[in-house]
Amino acid sequence: MTDQSNRVVIFDTTLRDGEQSPGATMTLDEKLDIAELLDQMGVDIIEAGFPIASDGDFEAVSKIAAQTKSAVVCGLARANFTDIDRCWDAVKHAARPRIHTFIGTSPLHREFQVRMDTEEMAEQIHKTVAHARNLCDNVQWSPMDATRTEDDYLARVCEIAIKAGATTINIPDTVGYTAPRESADIIRMLLERVPGMDEITIATHCHNDLGMATANSLAAVEAGARQIECTINGLGERAGNTALEEVVMAMRVRHDIMPFDTGIDTTKLMTASRMVAAVSGFPVQFNKAIVGKNAFAHESGIHQDGMLKHAGTFEIMRPEDVGLTETSLVMGKHSGRAALRSKLENLGYELGDNQLKDVFVRFKELADRKKEVYDEDLIALMSDSTAEAMNDRIQVKSLKVICGTEGPQSADLTLVVDGQEMRVQETGDGPVDATFNAVQSIYPHGAKLSLYQVHAVTEGTDAQATVSVRMEENGKLVTGQSADTDTVVASAKAYVNALNKLLVRREKTAHYMAG
Ligand code: KIV
Ligand code: ZN
Repeated sequence: MTDQSNRVVIFDTTLRDGEQSPGATMTLDEKLDIAELLDQMGVDIIEAGFPIASDGDFEAVSKIAAQTKSAVVCGLARANFTDIDRCWDAVKHAARPRIHTFIGTSPLHREFQVRMDTEEMAEQIHKTVAHARNLCDNVQWSPMDATRTEDDYLARVCEIAIKAGATTINIPDTVGYTAPRESADIIRMLLERVPGMDEITIATHCHNDLGMATANSLAAVEAGARQIECTINGLGERAGNTALEEVVMAMRVRHDIMPFDTGIDTTKLMTASRMVAAVSGFPVQFNKAIVGKNAFAHESGIHQDGMLKHAGTFEIMRPEDVGLTETSLVMGKHSGRAALRSKLENLGYELGDNQLKDVFVRFKELADRKKEVYDEDLIALMSDSTAEAMNDRIQVKSLKVICGTEGPQSADLTLVVDGQEMRVQETGDGPVDATFNAVQSIYPHGAKLSLYQVHAVTEGTDAQATVSVRMEENGKLVTGQSADTDTVVASAKAYVNALNKLLVRREKTAHYMAG
């Protein structure tokens, strides 16, 4: 049985801090799928979003609250009553709701961001935490930029928040500035100086600007923190947040020196990583710890020889522990619906009957075009954000391209825009350029294409291509993604997916400005 004093609570903020990462905007359906997987894999708390930020964020947090079976569902709020009330309205239908409220406490944040002196801020913290606690019995409070806040002031405001009713105090390293020894010292200092600090849960929230987020989080745990805030693949602002898969596997593999337990089913880590990479358009670097393509690959002769004799010679964890199974030939066009359901369940996707019906149709289309359908193809099919595009304002109806050595390459494209079919023919420097010019001529926009990236899902010339397209408008980035055996079709759909996200982002910004 787990010793409760050694149980570390996993707080996942992929859908809040992760989604804040430039370009990682997610649609409602994508957020619901990720939240469902996080709940299934045993995440204790899902930070589902920032409800005051937009109607879309509010809706996402409310829907995640309603669908989540086990995890606590948390929303973020600044230190004012309007934010906190809106947050409560979004999370209150969860079986286990939490309000997370924060304010920047470091000298720089006090002077330039919040524009409050220490006394005004102390007062505001007391009022807002007490207000949140009147609404909800599970309240988390964060002194943003805690690691650059003076010890005396940090201890003082933590005490105020605890007295006002906070049940978790989070110590964020907002700018990724701390180092392991200091991260631990801050937690020890607070435990020593703040009355009641040992009766609430202490959380650590680290950013990775100096590449120390995982080490800093684990050091905080050794000093007494019992909640780690993290994201799948380390997605997050700038260099990202602590990677969930890294802290969870570090505590599991080195349990001898870090005797802490989590409730995470680690065999779902790979599925979660692939889903978040596909949805965010942020591919996982090949040599990324735990979930990178090369994390379990052995290239050198000496390593391969050792592996054949005993896997333990060069492997500290088994690939299957993180959900990495041998690539297997799954099915072909004669495979039935039950087989598809069972295969998808093995890969971590639980589908309702209607969803299965839709996926089965797309699977058959793929199997018609591609003789051999692998696990990776099914994952790409499931992650294709253009598949559930029924509600998108712009949709790809058909595309024909002419390309080859004799230019000009041209694209004949039909889009449906707000329910109306529109067709054009355009030329360009290659079939993708011609296709993108055609989209631009049907739906003119000022956004700049900042990334176009193609990945082959499997090997072979009939492999599906996953295409990511990132666009920038007024400093805001969005990423679209799609997969198809035809690279140009995948490109068109990924581009249109990015445009749809841009429209959602525009709406969000307009709402935020108006508020
Ligand atoms: O990094 C940070 O300080 C945050 C807070 C909102 C907790 O994300
Ligand atoms: Zn953060």
